[in-house]
Amino acid sequence: MPIANNTMRTTQILEIRNESPTVKTFVFTDRLCSKAKPGQFLMLWIPGIDEIPLSIMDTSNGIVSVSVKAVGDATRYMHTMQTGAIIGIRGPFGNSFTETRGRALLVGGGTGTAPLLFLAKQLSTKTDRLTFVEGAKTKEELLFLKQIGKICEYKNTITTTEDGTAGLQCLVTKPLSDVLDREHFDMIYTCGPEVMVKKIFEMTDKRKLPIEASLERLMRCGIGLCGSCVIGKYRVCRDGPVFTGAQLREIKNELGTSKIGIDGSKVPI
Ligand SMILES: Cc1cc2nc3c(=O)[nH]c(=O)nc-3n(C[C@H](O)[C@H](O)[C@H](O)COP(=O)(O)OP(=O)(O)OC[C@H]3O[C@@H](n4cnc5c(N)ncnc54)[C@H](O)[C@@H]3O)c2cc1C
Ligand code: FES
Repeated sequence: MPIANNTMRTTQILEIRNESPTVKTFVFTDRLCSKAKPGQFLMLWIPGIDEIPLSIMDTSNGIVSVSVKAVGDATRYMHTMQTGAIIGIRGPFGNSFTETRGRALLVGGGTGTAPLLFLAKQLSTKTDRLTFVEGAKTKEELLFLKQIGKICEYKNTITTTEDGTAGLQCLVTKPLSDVLDREHFDMIYTCGPEVMVKKIFEMTDKRKLPIEASLERLMRCGIGLCGSCVIGKYRVCRDGPVFTGAQLREIKNELGTSKIGIDGSKVPI
């Protein structure tokens, strides 16, 4: 009998790579998730600790990679794990970014860059041109610059840092107005902190440009049952995590403003 996406599979960590002082990439085998599309996520169980949602960052021949930022109990614990450690996997879950054949602009912030790198790899053979804009707090936190530079060509890559240690000293949204006014794009893809996503949605909405944004919410079940990932009429795990401009317009009052907290109440972002 085929295994359902929601069935927990255990696997071993094969490889761990340091990407930045706070981000590590974990590589493992999982047949189902290795068939995932860019934008989809998995639930990763750390025995005795927690189960957390993570975007799939890369796949090939049964191998899956996720990049994890140490922010709290589960992710900090993951950063102490070694190769050979056992983890549990459910998924892949959620929808994926749609493929565009024209010109695409990708805007990533923090670990939101991970699913966009996966997308960029897949689009690179299909689109006319890819432009990547990545922002981080400092130079050390700019993720996957070499890979992005290779795929999108360095001339089509813009980086920003808040402290000015690399690229332009500003938020990632600052150079975007110019880029959006100067060039034509058939699709804008974004993933990152929700306040950033909201700003980018507003910029594209004003210019009537197509956008797809991947959202993050607290998740427990990952399959549309528990309600912890609700935003407006949507459940991010089931209806997303990728949302179109029309859907973002429907939830614009909650986007970047409030979310369901760990105790089930609405909390400000
Ligand atoms: C669809 C999806 C894809 C994701 N992909 C990635 C990824 O590729 N890499 C990655 O590092 N993280 C990703 N996240 C976020 C990741 O799931 C959280 O950072 C993780 O659950 C935090 O667990 P923790 O126990 O370490 O932190 P906690 O102790 O639970 O929380 C620590 C801090 O992180 C915040 N936090 C907790 N959960 C989330 C969440 N879901 N989104 C945003 N902030 C959160 C809390 O508000 C708190 O401030 C993704 C989340 C979703 C929903
Ligand atoms: S995580 Fe349970 S409904 Fe989305």
